[in-house]
Amino acid sequence: MAERLRAAVVGLRGMGIGHIKAILALPEMYELAAVCDINPETARKVSEEYKVTGYLALSEMLKHEKLDVVSIATPHPFHRECAVACAKAGVHVLVEKPMASAVSDADDMIRAHKRAGTVLSVVFQQRYQPLQRTIRKLVREGVIGEITRVHMTATYFRSDFYYKLVGWRGTWKGEGGGVLMNQAPHALDQYLWQSGLELDTVLGRCETFMHPIETEDRASAIVTFANGALGTLVTSTTDAPGIYRIEMVGDKGAIVFEKGKASIAVNNIPTRKFNSESRGEWGSPKAEWKDIVPEDPGYPYRSHDACFYHLGLQIHGKRSEYVPGEEGRKSLELADAIILSSYRGGPVKCPVSRKGYDEFLAGRIRAAERERRRTEERRPGKKRV
Ligand SMILES: NC(=O)c1ccc[n+]([C@@H]2O[C@H](COP(=O)([O-])OP(=O)(O)OC[C@H]3O[C@@H](n4cnc5c(N)ncnc54)[C@H](O)[C@@H]3O)[C@@H](O)[C@H]2O)c1
Repeated sequence: MAERLRAAVVGLRGMGIGHIKAILALPEMYELAAVCDINPETARKVSEEYKVTGYLALSEMLKHEKLDVVSIATPHPFHRECAVACAKAGVHVLVEKPMASAVSDADDMIRAHKRAGTVLSVVFQQRYQPLQRTIRKLVREGVIGEITRVHMTATYFRSDFYYKLVGWRGTWKGEGGGVLMNQAPHALDQYLWQSGLELDTVLGRCETFMHPIETEDRASAIVTFANGALGTLVTSTTDAPGIYRIEMVGDKGAIVFEKGKASIAVNNIPTRKFNSESRGEWGSPKAEWKDIVPEDPGYPYRSHDACFYHLGLQIHGKRSEYVPGEEGRKSLELADAIILSSYRGGPVKCPVSRKGYDEFLAGRIRAAERERRRTEERRPGKKRV
C-alpha cells in the first residue's frame, strides 16, 4: 500500500463535506482521490470544487478508482450496503454514526470487513476530546470504584422545518428511528464508553411529542447493566435549551459532566464499606468536588480529523485509538433496544434479537408507507379511483 492513502467520500450534501475537509487537513496521510453522491448536481458541484472525479454510484467509483479508504456519510440505512461493497473491494471504511439503523446491518458490516481483512471504523469524534478521554481514564483506573449508577440527559432542539427540509429525517424508512438514531448516538456512545458498562436489559419509552414525524422525538430508558449497575437516560429534540449531562456514580465517588466541564468527588471511605461499618444514625462518606483537568492526548486532532488520523494509523499497523465496528455497534444496540422495548411495552434483553428487530423495523416501514398513502388519498383535490 502506498504511504499516502487514497481516500474517497460517499454522500456529499452535509457531513460528507466535513469528511473532505478532514482528509485535506491530513495531507501527509491522505490524498482525496474521488467523491460520490447519487444526486448528480451535488456530485458535480463537489467534484468541481475539490477537483476530483465525481461518481453517481459507489460501484462505479470502486470499479474505476484505486482506493485505500472510503468514508461513508450517506443517510444511515445506506451505510450497510456501502460498507459491505467496500469490504468486497478490499477497501477500508470510515462510516458515520450511527453505523446502521438495525444491529443486524452492523453485524453484516463487521463480518464483511473481518472476512476481507480490512479496517472498519465508526465516526465517534467525541472520543478524541481531551476531557472525555480523561474521564474515561479515571473510570478505568478505578478512581471512583466500580460503577453502580449512570445517568445521561442529552436533549436538543430541532424545528419542524429541520425535519421537512430533508425528506429522510424522522422517517422509519429514511433513518429507522428519530432522536435515538440521529442526535443521541454520540451521547449514547459516551454513556457506554466512559462508564465501560455492558448492557443487560433495557426498558424504553419512545414518544412523538412535538413534531409531525413518524419516529420518536423523545425517548427515555431504564437500563440494567451486567454488573447490576442502574442506568437511566433521557434524550429529545424537543428541549430548548438542550441539556447535556452525564453522571457516573461508583463505590468510591462520582463524576459529573455538564456544559463542557467535568468534576469529580472521591469518597474518604468507599460507600459500601461506610454503609456496613458506620455506627452513626446519619452521615455519609466525605468527599470534595474538584474540576477534572483534561490531559493532552498527544495529537492535535479533535474531531473528524482525529477519526481519519487514527484510522490511518490503524491501517498502517501503528498504535491507534480508532473506533472499531464492534465499539460503534454498542450505542446502536442500546438505541434499538430502547425502540423495541417501547413498542413491545416491556424490557428487552441485550443483545437485541436480530430477527425480532428486523421484523419490527420492516413492520414500522410498511405501516408508515400505508399511512402516507392514506394521507395522500385524503388530500383535497385528489381524485379517488
Ligand atoms: N458525526 C457527526 O457529528 C455527524 C453530524 C451530522 C451527520 N452525521 C451522519 O452523517 C450521515 C449523513 O448525514 P447528513 O446530515 O450529511 O445527510 P444529508 O442528507 O445532508 O447528505 C447525505 C447525502 O448522501 C447522498 N446519498 C444518499 N444515498 C446515497 C447512496 N446510496 N450513495 C451515494 N450517495 C448517497 C444524498 O444525495 C446526500 O447528498 C448520517 O448518518 C448522519 O447521522 C454525523
